[in-house]
Amino acid sequence: MKVLVIGSGGREHAIVDALSRSKQVDKIWCAPGNAGIALQAECVAIGVSECEKLADFAEANNIALTVVGPEAALAVGIVDLFKERGLKIVGPTKAAAQIECSKEFAKDLMHKYQIPTAAYKVFSEYEAARDYVRRTGVPTVLKYDGLAAGKGVVIAMTEAEADEALRDMLLDDKFGKGSVVIEEYLEGVEFSYMCFVSGHKVWPMVSAQDHKRACDGDKGPNTGGMGAYSPLPFITEEDERYALEQIMQPTADAMVKEGCPFEGILYGGLMKTAKGIKVIEFNARFGDPETEVVLPRLKSDIADAFMAVADHGSMQLEWHDFATLGIVLASKGYPGSYEKGFEIKGLEEAGRGAWIYHMGTKSTDKGFVTAGGRVMTVVGKGATLQEAREDARRRVEMIECENLFHRSDIGWRAFEK
Ligand code: AMP
Ligand code: GLY
Repeated sequence: MKVLVIGSGGREHAIVDALSRSKQVDKIWCAPGNAGIALQAECVAIGVSECEKLADFAEANNIALTVVGPEAALAVGIVDLFKERGLKIVGPTKAAAQIECSKEFAKDLMHKYQIPTAAYKVFSEYEAARDYVRRTGVPTVLKYDGLAAGKGVVIAMTEAEADEALRDMLLDDKFGKGSVVIEEYLEGVEFSYMCFVSGHKVWPMVSAQDHKRACDGDKGPNTGGMGAYSPLPFITEEDERYALEQIMQPTADAMVKEGCPFEGILYGGLMKTAKGIKVIEFNARFGDPETEVVLPRLKSDIADAFMAVADHGSMQLEWHDFATLGIVLASKGYPGSYEKGFEIKGLEEAGRGAWIYHMGTKSTDKGFVTAGGRVMTVVGKGATLQEAREDARRRVEMIECENLFHRSDIGWRAFEK
């Protein structure tokens, strides 16, 4: 079977890698892919939002199955178009992708179906929003409604901070014309719980945890993710059962009831609070960098899983017992401005027996060079998380490049006494 993966990051590299382990898959294409993905798939220069071109490509090349990585493609309705043209694709329709793309849609759905989440109210007028914050107090959470790539969330510790953010979002329209969801501030540990979903059917993956801040100790600016690991010692089987039965399954059922059944990967960004597990956000796709540590643990054939999602079939997912821990190497300066084009050496050696997933690299006659903010995720494995961390660190040390930095404390929560 021939498959097409859409996207160009570490997440898509991990998907391509998992597909390359499948017995049924004999050819993988990736659009647009990246220099690392090109080692395992044939990259095609079509952008993730060029839906017509992607559908033409899938048709012309007899692609049996297309898998969508990024939300940008979902938000413009790539799945709707593929389905109209009779092409098999794994991902939610534009209507179902609202669960990620519209915070208001997601919050209203959770409210209507009593899925546990932070209390909230939606505002489009600055004055009303400001008065609400004055009444309800701080800390409070302000979420600009729209796809702002994670930049639209402000945790305001003071009223002044809240006011400034509300001005940006509702008076100055810094992110565009939109509304703001004001949410109760929750405290607890966050984890990512991704599930394959096909209508009412939900098959959970192992949980993982991301590290969104740029620097050790969870300090510094927010990023696309600086590392992840799996499993999570502080999330029990009972927690996962609760997340499945009280959150993910009811959400899948609710989407069917609302007339926009979810097909694809439903990502629960969950928080374990003193009052139980609650939803922070949903994503309509695989998480990055969680996918880079979760898919290596998948023992089952991922092509079977994707087919079960697309065909409303059945499957039994099996997982390896080993632990994985991924460290993101990023260009110095990221998530601010950074330079590109620095040579990267030692990759082959460093990746042997584990995984290196490329995010922003370019292939030149000097070998790989840096070409993005986040450059790659180096994933180590071991019988325990401790061993996985040692393995990942050892591999990171083997990579030579003068313009990269990484966090040295990935997984810290798992090692806390
Ligand atoms: P989101 O884009 O909704 O995932 O929000 C980004 C980050 O803000 C989350 O990963 C949390 O760390 C934090 N956050 C979002 N909502 C809340 C909340 N209600 N209480 C506390 N922290 C939150
Ligand atoms: N790791 C968070 C995300 O993919 O949105």
